[in-house]
Amino acid sequence: MFKKIKGTQDFLDLTLFNFIIDQAKKHLSEYNFTEISTPIIEPLDLYKRSTGEETEVVTKQMFKISGQNDEEICLRPEITPSVIRAFIENKIQQVPWKVFTWGPVFRYERPQKGRFRQFNQLNMEVIGSDSIAQDAQFIKMLDRFFHSKLGLTDYALLINFLGCFEDRKIFQLLLKQFLDNVQQDICKECQIRKERNILRIFDCKNPQCQKIYKDAPTITNNLCKSCDAEWETLKEELSLLSVSYMVQPTLVRGLDYYSKTVFEFVSDSLGAQSAFCGGGRYNQLVSQLGGKNDQPSIGAAPGIERLLLLLEPIKSQLVLPQKPTLHLILPIEQKQNMLALLLADTLQNHGLCADILLEGDSIKSMMRKANKMGAKYVLILGPEEQEQKTVTVKNMVDGSSITILQIDLIDSLKK
Ligand code: HAM
Repeated sequence: MFKKIKGTQDFLDLTLFNFIIDQAKKHLSEYNFTEISTPIIEPLDLYKRSTGEETEVVTKQMFKISGQNDEEICLRPEITPSVIRAFIENKIQQVPWKVFTWGPVFRYERPQKGRFRQFNQLNMEVIGSDSIAQDAQFIKMLDRFFHSKLGLTDYALLINFLGCFEDRKIFQLLLKQFLDNVQQDICKECQIRKERNILRIFDCKNPQCQKIYKDAPTITNNLCKSCDAEWETLKEELSLLSVSYMVQPTLVRGLDYYSKTVFEFVSDSLGAQSAFCGGGRYNQLVSQLGGKNDQPSIGAAPGIERLLLLLEPIKSQLVLPQKPTLHLILPIEQKQNMLALLLADTLQNHGLCADILLEGDSIKSMMRKANKMGAKYVLILGPEEQEQKTVTVKNMVDGSSITILQIDLIDSLKK
């Protein structure tokens, strides 16, 4: 027997999954976003140059596949670089380009609760907008989605500000001085990160390192005048829009392209993988990937599997789409199969949900099966019904039954 690949899962009921996507589509259209779709396979280099060569995602978690002619291809580990590539390649002129897309992404991680190797993201980007008010509006949009559209209450928003390129350069020097003094106490990987991509030390999961970094200098205490003003404005605007947040000075996010605003929505009820949505501003990525001009941008991606974990316990409070009323046709003998086919076809043609029990059995066990299938109406076609051009309709909810002419069936059911 074949088994699914580790870290993947089968979805046997997509009601809640589709609910999230439908709510997102409605919500994002209210904020003037357009739905797009980009490929799941992309050039490996695209991710090396954007997500970052030293990030965990690129160094340890990539699913690489080899194409023809030594082409290096990967399964996308996130969607942002793919959207930026599409923006540049399709020469989009109209900015801000507010787009969203959703679908599978792949990361070779150690599977655990809420952490998969294939999972789904709902990815949103606003490309080409410099104003910090855009960040406040974007974060409010996410908060309203989680709270009002999905009914989540048990979560918090963490924010931080990474400043401009110059700020980060100065901060990196300060951080290096700090790390020089604790060099012996940090893990081997952090010693490497310190030399290659110092901000990544904050992504370290080692408890000893995390404890040490609590005393590290913070970037928000070392911002230039204009970034400091933007940081203050962002917090003011979030408060104005009634968004509750907590400042987390060590939040740097695990991907290289962020500048200025970064944020994560977290929930304790998820356990160790507490972040269910992450994002931030990235002002240089478009030019870094070959675009003519810099396009200051902001984006985020909630993980759909983590939203599902949060929604499962409150499912009964949600208004989920109901399954259509099932009309189950029971041909008593094989001779009634053709009539059953015709009747089912007529019902389906009139937009009613119909199915046939074609395998035949005693009427008693067919009725039991109908019950299990959740049929609201059972349409019995026996020799007598066939002869008299009638059908016996049994209402499975109240137990009543009537025999009517086949020709009157649709009108009667629609009533
Ligand atoms: P990220 O924080 O790497 O950001 O991932 C976003 C979300 O994907 C996480 O908050 C989490 O819910 C989900 N996620 C990540 N890894 C896994 C996993 N192994 N299993 C299940 N869910 C997972 C990004 O990917 C950025 N591209 C977001 C962004 C868009 N920034 C700007 N624009």
